[in-house]
Amino acid sequence: ETGIEEFQIKTDNSSYKILFASSEVYPLIKTGGLADVAYSLPHTLSALGHEVTMVIPAYRSVREQLNLTKALAKITIHGHDIEIYSTKFPDTDVRLLLIDAPPLFDFDGNPYVDQTGHARENNALKFGLFCRAIALLATDQAGLYWRPDVLHCNDWQTGLALAFLEDQTVRPATVFTIHNLAYQGNFPYQSFLELGLSDAHWDYTKLEFHNQLSFIKGGIVFADQVNTVSPTYADEIQTSEFGCGLELLLQHYSSKLSGILNGIHEEKWNPETDSYIEKNYNSNTINKKSINKTALQKLFGLECKPDVPVFALVSRLVSQKGLDYIIDIAPNFKFFNLQFIIFGSGDADIEKNLLDLASKYPSQIAVRIGFDEKLAHLCTAGADFFMMPSRFEPCGLNQMYSQRYGTI
Ligand code: ADP
Ligand code: GLC
Repeated sequence: ETGIEEFQIKTDNSSYKILFASSEVYPLIKTGGLADVAYSLPHTLSALGHEVTMVIPAYRSVREQLNLTKALAKITIHGHDIEIYSTKFPDTDVRLLLIDAPPLFDFDGNPYVDQTGHARENNALKFGLFCRAIALLATDQAGLYWRPDVLHCNDWQTGLALAFLEDQTVRPATVFTIHNLAYQGNFPYQSFLELGLSDAHWDYTKLEFHNQLSFIKGGIVFADQVNTVSPTYADEIQTSEFGCGLELLLQHYSSKLSGILNGIHEEKWNPETDSYIEKNYNSNTINKKSINKTALQKLFGLECKPDVPVFALVSRLVSQKGLDYIIDIAPNFKFFNLQFIIFGSGDADIEKNLLDLASKYPSQIAVRIGFDEKLAHLCTAGADFFMMPSRFEPCGLNQMYSQRYGTI
């Protein structure tokens, strides 16, 4: 039994049993960098010899990709039947658990917002039940006869799991990673009642935030350790400019708060072996990069000129990413000999403004709305310059991917 009271940091090379919880993971379900890190970090820990189990929701598309049929365990939480499925990531030792709460995860598309960009109505309930299930898994109360040494939760969708563990005398050590403080999972009091949280939790020092239930506070308040995805961001979120209203809480917990810079998966993003790009290259054959540039110009309907610099931008199209900076300066592009490629999806008004730009300056600016892993890789390989305007960026992976692809 590894309870928190007995938990000792192991100083030898022995391995930990780690439960890693996330609402998305590459390549099964991805909206942004969280999915990439949720893939690369557990796989790296596993390669270092730790026993890693990952847990994500069983969204419809994930179920279809994995062809899940028979549940490993079934439990009931507040009258909701929960099914737990077990499988493995191909070619690795990482175990993957999937939590289903029929029919809550049976939908297509983005896990958090519907096609019109509005938050999905059942977010509180479905991620609340997901958090309950994580807490039961972490304390061996889900019928799996397995208990982790460490529970690692990520972002608001998993934050309440730490609150559900508060009254457990035997529990794993816990860490909560803030990938983006701007997304907090705030919901009306009704959701607090629906999720069966104890009255004592309805307090501004716990889960209450401006008269709402805050999932992310669960992670910040109740985790043993809290970290963010870069040392700079760990400092920034303790200021009123970037703290999103939680800066005082984060200052209060600063002794357990740190920043650890994200890494990238160097094989998934490797221009020498990348099967998504037109022509592979490395630092010795960098001249072949231009074949990717031509393919990119062609795909986006721009003139295939090798001597015109191509700037590419691949991003979620949300205000955080500072697209308005580009929109503001676009009229000046005509003074320069350059081409601009924008690929992404997100807020409807940003998408529209960008499409308007493309129709206004068709020979210089090309915009495509969508989400496609292959195209993201080709943009990174084919561009001369990668553009990352930003209002704030907790870490950002695209600048590191660009560096790996010789893209300035
Ligand atoms: P964030 O997580 O804030 O979106 P990151 O830079 O950490 O920012 O990670 C973004 C990830 O999402 C990268 O892997 C990037 O290539 C990917 N991405 C963003 N937009 C798209 C898109 N439209 N199609 C494919 N991948 C995308
Ligand atoms: C978030 C942040 C991004 C970070 C990513 C992975 O989505 O916006 O900056 O790189 O998480 O940690």
